[in-house]
Amino acid sequence: MKSRILVIDDESAIRESLRMILEYEGYEFLGAATGQDGITFVERERPDLVFLDIKMPGMDGMDVLQRIKAVDDALPVVMISGHATVTTAVEATKLGAFDFIEKPLASERVLVTIRNAIDRRALADENRSLKRVMEVRHQIVGESAGLKGVMDAIRRAAPTNATVLITGESGVGKELVARAVHRNSLRSRERFIQVNCAAIPDDLIESELFGHEKGSFTGATEKQIGKFEQADKGTIFLDEVGDMSLKTQAKVLRVLQEGEVERLGSARTIKVDVRVLAATNKNLEEEIEKGSFREDLYFRLAVIPVYVPPLRDRREDVPLLVRHFAELFSRDNNFRPKRVTPAAMEILQRNRWKGNIRELRNAVERLIIMTPNDVVDVADLPESLRVETPARGPDNDSGRAGTLREHKEAAERAFLVQKLRETGWNISKTAELIDTPRSNLYKKLEQYNIKQEVDG
Ligand SMILES: Nc1ncnc2c1ncn2[C@@H]1O[C@H](COP(=O)(O)OP(=O)(O)OP(=O)(O)O)[C@@H](O)[C@H]1O
Ligand SMILES: [Mg+2]
Repeated sequence: MKSRILVIDDESAIRESLRMILEYEGYEFLGAATGQDGITFVERERPDLVFLDIKMPGMDGMDVLQRIKAVDDALPVVMISGHATVTTAVEATKLGAFDFIEKPLASERVLVTIRNAIDRRALADENRSLKRVMEVRHQIVGESAGLKGVMDAIRRAAPTNATVLITGESGVGKELVARAVHRNSLRSRERFIQVNCAAIPDDLIESELFGHEKGSFTGATEKQIGKFEQADKGTIFLDEVGDMSLKTQAKVLRVLQEGEVERLGSARTIKVDVRVLAATNKNLEEEIEKGSFREDLYFRLAVIPVYVPPLRDRREDVPLLVRHFAELFSRDNNFRPKRVTPAAMEILQRNRWKGNIRELRNAVERLIIMTPNDVVDVADLPESLRVETPARGPDNDSGRAGTLREHKEAAERAFLVQKLRETGWNISKTAELIDTPRSNLYKKLEQYNIKQEVDG
C-alpha cells in the first residue's frame, strides 16, 4: 500500500516541489496551505507522515504540532524550517516532532527522513499490537467473590517488595497471578524470570538458580549466570516451589535472608535485588509435617499468601471465561466470533472442571475449532460433558463417583443415555435392546433425571 504524506506549508512552491519528489517516489501526496486545513486532513485522511512548516501566517507550526499530537500521538511529524527557525525546530523535536529538515529542501534528505519515519511507525504499530495481544493473553477474567479476593490481594501486594506465595490446584491461574503482581509493581519494566522447579533435574537446579563458573563441575564448560542474577532489579517466579529439594531450599533461604548469591565454583558473593514470588499446588503445611519442606523457608515465602480457589467454587466465572476464550480462539483461527447457546453454557457451567481453567480453556479451544457453525450448541459438546450426572448437587460434589454405588449409578446412567441415543430416544426399542421391562426403564429415567435432549 502507498504511504500517504501530508505537507502543510503556506508556500505553494514548497508544496509543489515536495509533491514532485513524493509522487515520483510512489508516495501519495496531500497538501494543505494552512495549519487549520492540515489538522482537518490529519483527522480525516489519517496520513502516515506529516511535513510541517514552522512559520506560517495564522496558526504557526508549533501550535499545529501540538494539535496533531493530540489527535495521533504516534504520527511522525517532520518540521520544515528556514534558517531563522532552526532553533525552534530543535525545540519542536522536544515536543515530539520526529525530525526537522532545512530549506532549501534537498530531495535526498527528504527521502531518507521519510524512510526513517515510516519504518519507525511500522515498528511502533507492531509493538503496540503485540503488547495488546500479550495483555489479552494475560488478562485475569472473572467477577466471582473468590476471584475478587485474589484481585484485592494482588493490588495490595504488588507495589510492595514482599514475597508472595500463591497456592491453589493445578490450572487455577497461579502463574497469571504472579505475572499480574509483577506487572503492577514498581519493577514492571524490569525482568520477570520464571523458574519451573519441578521441571529441572535436582542436580542442575542449583546451577540454574545461582549460576556457575567455568569448570566448576564436569560438564560446566562455560560460565553460567543464574536466574537470580538475571532477575536482578526485577522479579523471580519460583513455580512449583514445593518440588525443590531440601538442599536447594537452604540456598534459596539464604538468598532471601542475605540478598546475595554465590555461583557454584566461586567464593565471591554477588548482591542481588530480587523480588521473589512463588507458587505451588502442594499443601506446604503437610510437606512441612512430612519433613520435605523447610518451615523457615515457608514463612519467608508466605509473607503474603494468596489462595486461588478452584473453578468449581466460582462457577459464576464460567460464562465470562467461556466468552473470553471463545473470542481469543476465534481470532487466533481467523473465525468469525462464535457464540455459545445458553443451554450449552449451562452444561459447561455445571461441569466439575477438575483441571480448572486450563481444562476449560482447552475445551473451548476444541469447541471453537471443531464446531462448523457460528453457534456452539449442546450437540457440539463432547459426550463426556453431556452425560454428566446432574443428580449431584452443584456444591457438594467434592467426590465424583467417589463410592462404588456412585460409580455404578454414573456408569448406568451414561449407558442408558447412550442406548437411548442409538434408538433415537425410542423407549420401547431401548427397553428391548437392553433387555429390561419398559416399566423398569421408565423408573430409571425418573431416578437419574434423564430427559430427552433437544437435539434428539
Ligand atoms: N482468571 C483467568 N482468566 C483468564 N485466563 C485464565 C484465568 N485463570 C487461568 N487462566 C488461563 O488458564 C491457564 C492455566 O493458568 P495458569 O498456568 O496460570 O495455572 P496454574 O495455576 O499456574 O497451573 P499449574 O499449577 O498447573 O501450573 C492459562 O492458559 C491461563 O492463561
Ligand atoms: Mg503454573
